[in-house]
Amino acid sequence: MEMAAEDLAINVSGMVKHFGPITAVNGIDLQVQKGEICGFLGPNGSGKTTFIRMLCGLLSPNGGEGTCLGYNVIHESEAIKRKVGYMTQRFSFYEDLSIIENLDFVARMYGIKNRLQSVHESLENLGLTKRKNQLAGTLSGGWKQRLSLAACLIHKPELLLLDEPTAGVDPKARREFWEEIHRLAEQGLTFLIATHYMDEAERCHSLAFLLYGNLIAHGTVDEVMKKSGKTNLEEVFIHFMSKAEKENLDK
Ligand SMILES: Nc1ncnc2c1ncn2[C@@H]1O[C@H](COP(=O)(O)OP(=O)(O)OP(=O)(O)O)[C@@H](O)[C@H]1O
Ligand SMILES: [Mg+2]
Repeated sequence: MEMAAEDLAINVSGMVKHFGPITAVNGIDLQVQKGEICGFLGPNGSGKTTFIRMLCGLLSPNGGEGTCLGYNVIHESEAIKRKVGYMTQRFSFYEDLSIIENLDFVARMYGIKNRLQSVHESLENLGLTKRKNQLAGTLSGGWKQRLSLAACLIHKPELLLLDEPTAGVDPKARREFWEEIHRLAEQGLTFLIATHYMDEAERCHSLAFLLYGNLIAHGTVDEVMKKSGKTNLEEVFIHFMSKAEKENLDK
């Protein structure tokens, strides 16, 4: 189904990124509708992080065009950065600052008006108020990831790019994290979420599957399963990988 351009949070085509001789992203087209949770799947090194970093203007593409939240991905990256929240693959906050100090720091960097109010709202929304004075370095994985989510929401973005946000987090904390994601999507936020967990992939409205920098499947969970002829996503993942490995050997 064709989607109207104004309904798309991400609308890019032909995105390419080379690192010397390596082609990390090899001409990807991707459309994600506003309010959609798109799962970004693919084996290690398939180009997920590189693609995410190009979308939010942290890496300049070698090719491609399109828009992110209506802004041109090549020429308007500053505007995009203000409306996008990016949660990096590794915990990237100050371990020797408390939760509240970390959030206040982020709010200052964004130059947020009513800074203290925003910080307190974000503590409250993510259930962090009771722990606000705990040093970030002493938090367990689940709480660290909550702090990261709070920090990337503080400037009220419209699109969240989450790069393996729940890696190493226990199942209960992961479930709570996903409940939060769905609550936010119902309020209109759009998500592109890289994950290696297939139970999380099943919770997405759509899936984009990367392999060697190419988008090899894109659609709903059911559509992607149908395309591969498999009945669960773990098998789909392995099917696509072994197919690609075989094609590489045959070359
Ligand atoms: N700054 C860089 N310089 C050189 N090569 C890079 C750089 N960043 C990524 N690459 C290479 O680009 C390819 C894609 O890497 P990328 O980190 O985007 O994959 P990924 O899908 O996020 O993997 P993972 O699941 O392990 O996080 C890999 O071969 C990687 O080694
Ligand atoms: Mg990555």
